[in-house]
Amino acid sequence: MDIKPALIEDLITLNNLEQAVFSANAWHKEDIAAMLSLPTVFGFIAYSGKVPVGYVLGQWVEDVGEILTIGVLKTHRRKGFAEQLIKHLFSKMKSDGVYNVTLEVKADNNAAKGIYTKLGGVKVGVRRKYYNNKEDALIYQFNL
Ligand SMILES: CC(C)(COP(=O)(O)OP(=O)(O)OC[C@H]1O[C@@H](n2cnc3c(N)ncnc32)[C@H](O)[C@@H]1OP(=O)(O)O)[C@@H](O)C(=O)NCCC(=O)NCCS
Repeated sequence: MDIKPALIEDLITLNNLEQAVFSANAWHKEDIAAMLSLPTVFGFIAYSGKVPVGYVLGQWVEDVGEILTIGVLKTHRRKGFAEQLIKHLFSKMKSDGVYNVTLEVKADNNAAKGIYTKLGGVKVGVRRKYYNNKEDALIYQFNL
């Protein structure tokens, strides 16, 4: 496993991963490009050998951060890729002075809730009907 920073030249890789992981709900390439160009956004890509298999994007301003998105290809799940991606992101955030991180997750996303809990995240709130005016979002918070 190799974890490397996600740069603007990785846009096609990130877009391919985003499409593979989120299919119909994936962000558009233009939106990923716009995010990557923000000085407040940073991310990592996980490689199995030379093959990109997962990614994470986070955003932070001063001491408050957010995980924007994370995904690992179905074929490579449950091998620790997401855990390493989040640990790299948290380490970078921490070195920039961030100590409070939040994120939103669909209430029925057991895999994501599992990893956030494993990494010390605590459920601190609910946004009702947040996704498509139907599904609730849970808010998780981490203290780095
Ligand atoms: C959530 C996701 C990123 C996890 O990626 P992953 O690389 O498989 O996760 P890891 O192998 O690092 O798992 C680390 C821990 O997370 C938890 N976890 C992961 N998958 C789980 C599952 N299906 N059910 C319950 N817990 C799970 C476990 O605690 C696991 O530790 P363990 O294997 O020692 O038990 C992946 O399932 C995914 O891409 N899902 C689709 C996209 C998505 O939902 N993103 C999150 C949006 S908020």
